[in-house]
Amino acid sequence: MTLTGDLVEEHKLIKRMIDMLESFAKKLEEGQIVEPIIFEQATDFIRNFADRFHHAKEEDILFKEMVKKGMPEKDSPIEVMLIEHEQGRDFVKGIIRANEQLKRGDKRAIKEIIRNAKGYIELLREHIEKENDILYPLAERMFTQEEQKELYHKFKEAETKKGGELTVKKYEGIVISFEMSEIANRNLPASARSKRAMLRSKASGTAIAVSEHAQKHATCFSTGSVFDTKLNGGELKSQKIELIRV
Ligand SMILES: [Fe+2]
Ligand SMILES: [Fe+2]
Repeated sequence: MTLTGDLVEEHKLIKRMIDMLESFAKKLEEGQIVEPIIFEQATDFIRNFADRFHHAKEEDILFKEMVKKGMPEKDSPIEVMLIEHEQGRDFVKGIIRANEQLKRGDKRAIKEIIRNAKGYIELLREHIEKENDILYPLAERMFTQEEQKELYHKFKEAETKKGGELTVKKYEGIVISFEMSEIANRNLPASARSKRAMLRSKASGTAIAVSEHAQKHATCFSTGSVFDTKLNGGELKSQKIELIRV
């Protein structure tokens, strides 16, 4: 156990989602269609995992304890981190707002989704680097072993209040299904890639990040199989999926 070990692990998952967000924004820039549900799932991850689960531990526990230990609140790395958390929240609000606009058919919103997604990606990548390389190592040096243990328990308590391991698994499941979709999409023949490549679960019939409208208009074709890993009753389960295109 290290004080900030779990936070660093959470950063890894957040960075994987940021990579996916970058890929979705790039697709929009290239004129491809990205279903609104994709951005709904991505912003759900950011709000509930990156922000409520992860940033909350930093804001409510770690940073406060660092201030108690003598780190200034103003004109300090902590102030910068808190400002960046707020900037991140604004970018996410921007994505959600524009995505709703797009759902109502306003294509001008695409630019706003791209702008806010890019802003968030750049901000968070740098933010995570600063925490991993500067702030967390500093925190590890500020507290005694005893204090670190106490803080670690506070982290665990905070996690439990926010769903604990189930929450981690749920959001890990979203990242994995995005990654699987990306891999499957890359393996599609060029003719299919030029249209919209979607994924649908063969076993359950439910769509993965595909709107109902898209499903209704989908036609099936065979391209082999990949695996869809999803959260199922708290357990991550894998099942074969087939590819469909519209
Ligand atoms: Fe942070
Ligand atoms: Fe962080």
